[in-house]
Amino acid sequence: MNRHLLSIDDLSRDEATHVLDTAAELAHLLDDTDRAVRKLPTLRGRTVVNLFFEDSTRTRISFEAAAKRLSADVINFSAKGSSVSKGESLKDTALTLEAMGADAVVVRHPASGAPHRLAYSGWTRSSVVNAGDGTHEHPTQALLDAFTMRRHLGPPDRPGALDGRRVAIVGDILHSRVARSNVLLLDKLGAAVTLVAPPTLLPVGVGSWPCQTSYDLDAVLPACDVVMMLRVQRERMNAAYFPSAREYSRRYGLDAPRLGMLAEHALVMHPGPMNRGLEISAVAADSPRSTIVEQVANGVSVRMAVLYLLLGGAQ
Ligand code: NCD
Repeated sequence: MNRHLLSIDDLSRDEATHVLDTAAELAHLLDDTDRAVRKLPTLRGRTVVNLFFEDSTRTRISFEAAAKRLSADVINFSAKGSSVSKGESLKDTALTLEAMGADAVVVRHPASGAPHRLAYSGWTRSSVVNAGDGTHEHPTQALLDAFTMRRHLGPPDRPGALDGRRVAIVGDILHSRVARSNVLLLDKLGAAVTLVAPPTLLPVGVGSWPCQTSYDLDAVLPACDVVMMLRVQRERMNAAYFPSAREYSRRYGLDAPRLGMLAEHALVMHPGPMNRGLEISAVAADSPRSTIVEQVANGVSVRMAVLYLLLGGAQ
């Protein structure tokens, strides 16, 4: 495996499958471990730094839990309350981390490409994991989504295969690093993705992505195995992308009637955080087919696998 995980394109299909299989094994191992211990010694003596220049709940805590369950030392750095608010650059922050001997740096940054800069500028020898950069990519979220899909949808004869599965990703595709990473990964794993959004929330050039697009959610829902709702990212919007919140949820929100249009086995996903009542109603978010709560534990397993393969088990 590559030394860094910056994009889904850093992984071949086999490597991605290996991450998902390893995550499943690690989850099993921990389940079997004495509750009082609940730790594997794999990364003892290694240091993982969580470098967060943008807000996060799930991603940050799951990387922290993952590193701790592998017995690594964890340093949490968030830009708020650090010298970044005094004007310190990414380079100087990186040099400080290097001096502390970080083995892996998990970075989230509002600028697309920041993790790449960190990985390839020569400022640090650490492995760099992209935990979300601007509107570019969020590879571990896509791995986590695929992990959850495999748990529920893998055929009994080939557990975990997603070939031929149909996934609809709905909403603010334009600003979504989750959508980009998911399209790349699901395509590698053989699933068929349809992006569903109003024309204003589809990126220029989406025609060259390995997926279909549609403006009509009701037409897409009945045939899908998974519907993934995306948050409307108001903080990245500098214009009016749709007339009103009410109109958006009427056309693109997942509500009770639309839930009823799904096949019986179909899953509802959302990477969180949710705008309840906008892209997803409470009925859909809390329904038995929703994977939103389950995803938290799965996120820890997948991030354990990523850290383990980058730092411990890759050689
Ligand atoms: C996403 C993110 O930060 O890209 N959330 C996450 O990591 N679980 C999606 C979002 O912010 O809407």
